[in-house]
Amino acid sequence: MLSLSHLQSITDRILDADDTAYGKLYAACDELYETLIKASRIDPREEKNKENQSLDSGAALGITWAAMCIKDIMRTKRFMNGVYAAVRDILLVHPEKTIHILYAGTGPFATLVLPLTARFSPEQIQLTLLEVNETSFNSLQNLVSILHLEKYIHRLEKADATKWKKPVNDQIDIFIVEAMQQGLKSEPHVAICMNIVPQLRPDTIMIPQQITLTAALLNEPKRMQEKFESGSIISSIHILDPVFILNKETILSRAESDAQRDVSDFTFQGKTIVIAADVVEDYPNLYLITDVLIYKEDCLLLDESPLSMPLKLADLRKELPTEIKFQYHIGSNPGIQFNMTML
Ligand SMILES: C[S@@+](CC[C@H](N)C(=O)[O-])C[C@H]1O[C@@H](n2cnc3c(N)ncnc32)[C@H](O)[C@@H]1O
Repeated sequence: MLSLSHLQSITDRILDADDTAYGKLYAACDELYETLIKASRIDPREEKNKENQSLDSGAALGITWAAMCIKDIMRTKRFMNGVYAAVRDILLVHPEKTIHILYAGTGPFATLVLPLTARFSPEQIQLTLLEVNETSFNSLQNLVSILHLEKYIHRLEKADATKWKKPVNDQIDIFIVEAMQQGLKSEPHVAICMNIVPQLRPDTIMIPQQITLTAALLNEPKRMQEKFESGSIISSIHILDPVFILNKETILSRAESDAQRDVSDFTFQGKTIVIAADVVEDYPNLYLITDVLIYKEDCLLLDESPLSMPLKLADLRKELPTEIKFQYHIGSNPGIQFNMTML
């Protein structure tokens, strides 16, 4: 039988571990995953648990994959750190406050807020939890009951966060979402932000605070060589320019420019980059680099997690473009779209 104190001792180990203590972090994340899978009686090998749910804003991961996110150890560690730091920062200024946290896309375990229950009372934090996938939602409901966490829950809803309307009297201090992949492709992270952020107060903390997609040219053999030989990757990548930035400002400015937008199908402003032929000779492959600023100093940089691995877009030797226009698109298959202008 899973006890809350046992679970909390595992999440404490994740929060307390140094960022570079990979062994400790790996062991704690693995134990957290195995403990939660067992307590929730999820069979990750079952085919129906692997099925993603298709939304008009992208794919909501099947429970197997959503649960497995815990094993992305740097992601789990840095997001837990960031969420914890944000709560502490608010309490520092308002020690008597009850902090309301909206977490969209919780998966079966609401992993990113679990450590908070070890460190804060229900008088200090209240959670609104949204999950669209029925199996994950049912599992989470069950987990809340097994762990007797009801006193922390303000709302627990099976809902599509790209369409959810915040009840007018609910005040949200922190909004958390991690429904993303490298290059912000496939999953509805951006669409969720586009729906939720305009409903929040200007001082609400959004986690992650900013995600930047940067176009880059890459020399693949050199990158392999650098990875195996020295661990340094700098000279195998030629950074071009940021092509999409997701933060509260870009979300609100896009929302204001198009109040009648169809949240399930639209594009952000495009960015055109001139491509120099001599650079393509040395760095022939077009990639997107994803930087995730979670909260203050907690971030995920290149290669620290599958979320921040370079995403290949094209082999430019076949095309030789003079310029490329990039545009982020929200829809059933969200992501960066690009058009090349040829010589
Ligand atoms: C990448 S998983 C991450 C799970 C969890 N946030 C974590 O960090 O471990 C994303 C979760 O968001 C859920 N999700 C995706 N789109 C959603 C939407 N529009 N509304 C609510 N939940 C959504 C998926 O079903 C999945 O459980």
